[in-house]
Amino acid sequence: MTKPARNILQIGFGNFGPTHLAAWRSLGLADGLHVVDPSDQARQRCRDLGLPEDRVGASPEGFLDRADLVVVLAPTDRHFEVCQPLMGSGKPLFIEKPMTATLEEAEGLADLRGDQTVQVGFYFRAHPLAQRVKAEVDSGVLGDLRYISARFHGFKRARGDSGVVGNDAVHFIDQANWMMGALPKAVDAVTRDHFGRGYDDLALIRLFYPSGALAHIEVGCIQPGRWNDNIVPGSTQTKEFVVAGSEGAAEIDYQTSELRLHRVHHELVDGLWRPNNRGVEMPHGAIVEPHDVVAGEFAAFLDAVDGKAPVLAGIEECGVGMARVLDAVHRSAASEQRVAL
Ligand SMILES: NC(=O)c1ccc[n+]([C@@H]2O[C@H](COP(=O)([O-])OP(=O)(O)OC[C@H]3O[C@@H](n4cnc5c(N)ncnc54)[C@H](O)[C@@H]3O)[C@@H](O)[C@H]2O)c1
Repeated sequence: MTKPARNILQIGFGNFGPTHLAAWRSLGLADGLHVVDPSDQARQRCRDLGLPEDRVGASPEGFLDRADLVVVLAPTDRHFEVCQPLMGSGKPLFIEKPMTATLEEAEGLADLRGDQTVQVGFYFRAHPLAQRVKAEVDSGVLGDLRYISARFHGFKRARGDSGVVGNDAVHFIDQANWMMGALPKAVDAVTRDHFGRGYDDLALIRLFYPSGALAHIEVGCIQPGRWNDNIVPGSTQTKEFVVAGSEGAAEIDYQTSELRLHRVHHELVDGLWRPNNRGVEMPHGAIVEPHDVVAGEFAAFLDAVDGKAPVLAGIEECGVGMARVLDAVHRSAASEQRVAL
């Protein structure tokens, strides 16, 4: 359904900027899009992609008053300073993940928040394959969830604004929390900083959920990825997410848009626990394009702004709650101990 036009202010237009632009275009709302970025190069790229001169600027002044909603796509370590003056402004805010670089910043933003919709950019909550698996989980078809295993790694630039925990693991931690319907009660993590830049480039994370279920997440930019990345040119990626329950399992390969639903449970036969395998379904046929997923996030954001739906990834769970989990991951890695939340 077509959404009514609005003035959108996007703050930051780096690598992910063109995907956001394509998403607004696919929703038919790009005519209301204004972009600000301090980088000449970023602003030129924006113009090259068709934004008119009067809708591109270096800073929010002059654009903010007219904005009906704001999207923050600046580097993660700038999110707090960019968002702080917007909290309490009443303007709906979409903040790319992770909401902030630290727990203190996340709590600071939450304290300043007024009566405004805030959505964190947890992309996979709008991904059709993840949504299908979430529906399987919620319907009970997979039974009791026991284990989530996820891998998000490949050769790519080591970002200047965060490590692989804040940039990549955060996606699959959120997805695991979403599937489990809870935040973990404890985490155990090992990280490495091979480049000595103060950020992790490899992380192995275990999450312990209140139900007793576990998740294991491997992320890194120093080990191979199986496929070429569809967002950052020249990078490789493996992005796999597996959910195992007592009555079945789901395997998602995000790079190939493949979903396998295993209808299987173990049963005791002749004294041995054997799998009773009732078959595998591959219900999804189409390649999922990143800008379509982002368009889904934006559509959900607009529905929340219009009061038609709850926020897809809200500030309490996905901003502050996630910051608590990430903080525990870093404390666990530093202390080499399991950390309770
Ligand atoms: N949801 C996802 O799947 C996804 C994917 C990629 C990136 N991200 C997130 O989006 C954010 C941006 O990522 P990116 O890869 O585009 O980063 P990037 O480093 O490529 O680009 C950031 C841009 O922000 C600009 N900038 C810096 N300070 C600014 C400020 N104060 N105000 C406005 N603009 C400013 C820079 O000039 C640059 O053009 C990060 O938080 C990242 O974690 C999310």
